[in-house]
Amino acid sequence: MTKEEATRRHSRLAEEIRKHDYAYYVEAKPLISDAEYDALYDELRDLERRYPDLATPDSPTQRVGGAPQPGFSPVVHRVPMQSLDNTYSLGELFGFVDRVERALPKESPTYVVEPKIDGVSISVVYRNGLFDHGATRGDGQTGDDISANLRTIRTLPLRLRLRPPPERLEVRGEAYLPTKAFEELNRERSARGEPPFANPRNATAGTLKQLDPRIVAQRPLAVIFYGAGELRGITCDSQDHWYRLLAESGLPAPSRHWVCRSKEDLSEAVEALDDFRKGLPYATDGAVVKVNEWRLCRILGSTAKAPRWAIAYKYGAERARTHLLRVLFQVGRTGVITPVAEMEPVFLAGSTVSRATLHNFEEVKRKGVRIGDWVYLEKAGEVIPAVVEVDRMARTGREEEIVPPERCPACGTSLCWEGIFLRCPNRKCPGQLKALIRHFARRNAMDIEGLGESLVNQLVDKGRVQDVADLYHLSLEDLLPLERMGKKSAANLLSAIEESKKRGLARLLFGLGIPHVGETAAEALASHFERLDRLLAASEEEIERVPTIGPIIGKSVADYFQDSFHRARVDRLRQSGVRMEAKPPLRRQGMLQGKTFVITGTLSEPRERIVEKIREAGGKVTESVSRKTSFLVAGEEPGSKLKQAGKHGVPVISEAELARLLDADRKDRDAT
Ligand code: IVH
Repeated sequence: MTKEEATRRHSRLAEEIRKHDYAYYVEAKPLISDAEYDALYDELRDLERRYPDLATPDSPTQRVGGAPQPGFSPVVHRVPMQSLDNTYSLGELFGFVDRVERALPKESPTYVVEPKIDGVSISVVYRNGLFDHGATRGDGQTGDDISANLRTIRTLPLRLRLRPPPERLEVRGEAYLPTKAFEELNRERSARGEPPFANPRNATAGTLKQLDPRIVAQRPLAVIFYGAGELRGITCDSQDHWYRLLAESGLPAPSRHWVCRSKEDLSEAVEALDDFRKGLPYATDGAVVKVNEWRLCRILGSTAKAPRWAIAYKYGAERARTHLLRVLFQVGRTGVITPVAEMEPVFLAGSTVSRATLHNFEEVKRKGVRIGDWVYLEKAGEVIPAVVEVDRMARTGREEEIVPPERCPACGTSLCWEGIFLRCPNRKCPGQLKALIRHFARRNAMDIEGLGESLVNQLVDKGRVQDVADLYHLSLEDLLPLERMGKKSAANLLSAIEESKKRGLARLLFGLGIPHVGETAAEALASHFERLDRLLAASEEEIERVPTIGPIIGKSVADYFQDSFHRARVDRLRQSGVRMEAKPPLRRQGMLQGKTFVITGTLSEPRERIVEKIREAGGKVTESVSRKTSFLVAGEEPGSKLKQAGKHGVPVISEAELARLLDADRKDRDAT
């Protein structure tokens, strides 16, 4: 066989194998027997052995996993990967619909209901129809490049079926381990004496983090796509349309989605999906409801964390039944006492649980919980377990009532009732301080790594830290005598504390633990006032006028800063060198970053205007065409530059094509 014949045969075989991969892995409807498939595959592999240059990256043989990697390189997401807000009832879901429709008074949005896949989110980029790279979500801005691992996933096409292929298609979705494969994997692990994975999501995350793609290739991961990142050379106007495009491209998508026009439609779809999802081969933990029209999604935009055009609807959380042994009284950072149940450990939705919140004493009364009861637990929002119900049939009569304490378990001060809350009025209470420091040091607050619970307890109990600001005056001598504290960890902790000074106003406001001020409110306040002294000088009315800050948060913030105790805390933090200004918003890299343009001929706008637009998008404009020019923009009656471009092989684009590039950049900016 000549090389030419081999090339032709190879391309036909590869095409054939791709078709069978799709039929087998995505549609689960094989068209040929395994033996027939193996014969095709073996022939392809033999051709590549004879002519190694036929083994291009999109060849079906490239899925077996390449050599181990030293680590993952970072990938910046041009469109950030956000998460979703959750709802747990139809009432809350309708609240979302009301918010959407209030924001779009002149429109009639429709909605799409689709499964919420319980996997690991990924982003995959195809350039000119070929798999280019794929990444994890990371912190939403930057993820890990896991291309080598993703290549091994059979349901992930290495080549799109779209003709002509778009210049860039970035798809968002979930990688997952099918439920059956997960069970099988755990059986094998147990047989080998290895610890089983808690749930399919952990197993998937653990697999994607493997540096050796050959291990990944042995685990039958799969992918499903539902969203879009950056698109170039392809347009789409709705979620429904997007699902048609995914199907045309050969990209796997949820097997069903529902288009809804009203709340009634939505409640029917959500119910239908709850039935439907039980037959799916992957784990789902809810529905995702999205505004269908992308034009309207763009108008709705996002908050700091999540889009305003989509929401998750969680189906009845999993429950577990266990024995309530004791009740502890925990002191919160504002002095509120929370009853916490200690129980016989029980496995619930992915982890073993032995403590659960009882929220407050009103709840204890309402549910009638007693010590010694058999209780049902649920994970509210999938994280913190809560006691939701008592198994009254299991009572023996020996159960004891939960009596609110009279004195603070941390400092002994007499407690007082504030509505349904029991509070410790001692602002110097060590219990409050410990809770505040734990919150202050949290990852999404001041992010002080290494400042764990036992350390906080020791520092407060020894009197070395009497307020959060004291953290900034700790020395090696203070830390070294503490339990389990070596020289290295002490030095690391000190540098983490030092680093935390630079977090900026938003994180500081969140870290102070002002009642009702979550991350989103803290962001809004920081970007409005920019400096803490401006916020300190603002009246309650001024604070309430900040977008998204309502009267409850407004009053809480104003009250907090009027209090001299809190003012003194802020002063001490300032004197310790903690940054009290907002961080300037991250300079976005324009999408034309690194691209050089030359303009020729007459354009519909003054040349200066066009130059300015290119620069705004991060591009450069030069006078003459060279090998380094990325694009020549040719208007009417182009000059000699056109010839130059031909000579250097520089692509020539029209004004309309330039407008599309600029438009993509504008959308990216709006989305960021
Ligand atoms: S849309 C801007 N659709 O759930 C974010 N997400 O809890 C839009 N997820 O981070 C996400 N199935 O990883 C969307 N059908 C679906 C989903 C889905 C699972 C994940 C996704 C997201 C997380 C939020």
